[in-house]
Amino acid sequence: MEKILIIGANGQLGTELSAALQTKYGQDAVITSDIRKPQEENAIFEILNVLDNDALATIVKKYKITQIYHLAAILSAKGEENPIQTWNINMNGLLNVLEIARHEKLKKVYYPSSIAVFGTTTPSPAPQYTSMNPSTIYGISKRAGEQWCEYYFNKYGVDVRSLRYPGLISYKTLPGGGTTDYAVDIFYKAIEETHFDCFLSENTRLPMMYMPDAVRATLELMDAPKENLSTHEGYNLNAFDCTPKELYNEIKKHAPNLEMGYKIDELRQSIADSWSDSVIDEAARKDWNWQHEYDMESTTKEMLTNLKKKFEATK
Ligand code: SER
Repeated sequence: MEKILIIGANGQLGTELSAALQTKYGQDAVITSDIRKPQEENAIFEILNVLDNDALATIVKKYKITQIYHLAAILSAKGEENPIQTWNINMNGLLNVLEIARHEKLKKVYYPSSIAVFGTTTPSPAPQYTSMNPSTIYGISKRAGEQWCEYYFNKYGVDVRSLRYPGLISYKTLPGGGTTDYAVDIFYKAIEETHFDCFLSENTRLPMMYMPDAVRATLELMDAPKENLSTHEGYNLNAFDCTPKELYNEIKKHAPNLEMGYKIDELRQSIADSWSDSVIDEAARKDWNWQHEYDMESTTKEMLTNLKKKFEATK
């Protein structure tokens, strides 16, 4: 019987992964946690600051947790406002999780990584093993985190698994403080208004993925036989890549009134410029048969349909 603790369950990924894990394992098997209460409680919930070791240990023991999904982190752009705090939360949070996993002999741990581990010396498309010189504290912490995961696997046998997500596009919960957020914001503007100012320049190409693919990839990786996995650092994960202009042109087919202008944010532009345009995810495809379902066209259709429904429901 699995008991799964999700840390950072209120975030963009956490809300959707929590729901998927509840569907898979049952309502009572999933314990959600975050630093604040969610707006709606749809699951067993505990307030948890991942830097509070004792509180983490108490929850793990109270619910006899067997797996942790550690999603709490400060994203790339937001992280630059306070690098030391970002490092502290992103890094020490992970170390607390790895330590409890080791001592309590948890079955599995999930740790999300990101395309932010890549840097200006990384070729595009980015191979699984390549030169990485992340330019943000978020990226540095994710790269170090990946290596800690591999270390805990090799040294202590902690079965920790990880994916390097592209920019995640979703309609249920907004992302906060990332460089790829424009690719979510633009859909809200397409439904609500007629003008969108993009903070990245028109030809900035980045890897992207629709949330249902990201959730399915996570569940498939966590289900894969351990002996099939060739890495316990983050697996490269690919669906599609696009520029703001390409995404806008696709959305415009469905929302012809949308106009897009550019108000470039220098910080986020420089972060985006340091990341690879696309990634090679051969290892994920070979080791656990990863196959994406959504491309830019189907993501656009799904996003607009679902956001329309969401807005109509709240009217
Ligand atoms: N979406 C994240 C960000 O933009 C990257 O993992 O920070």
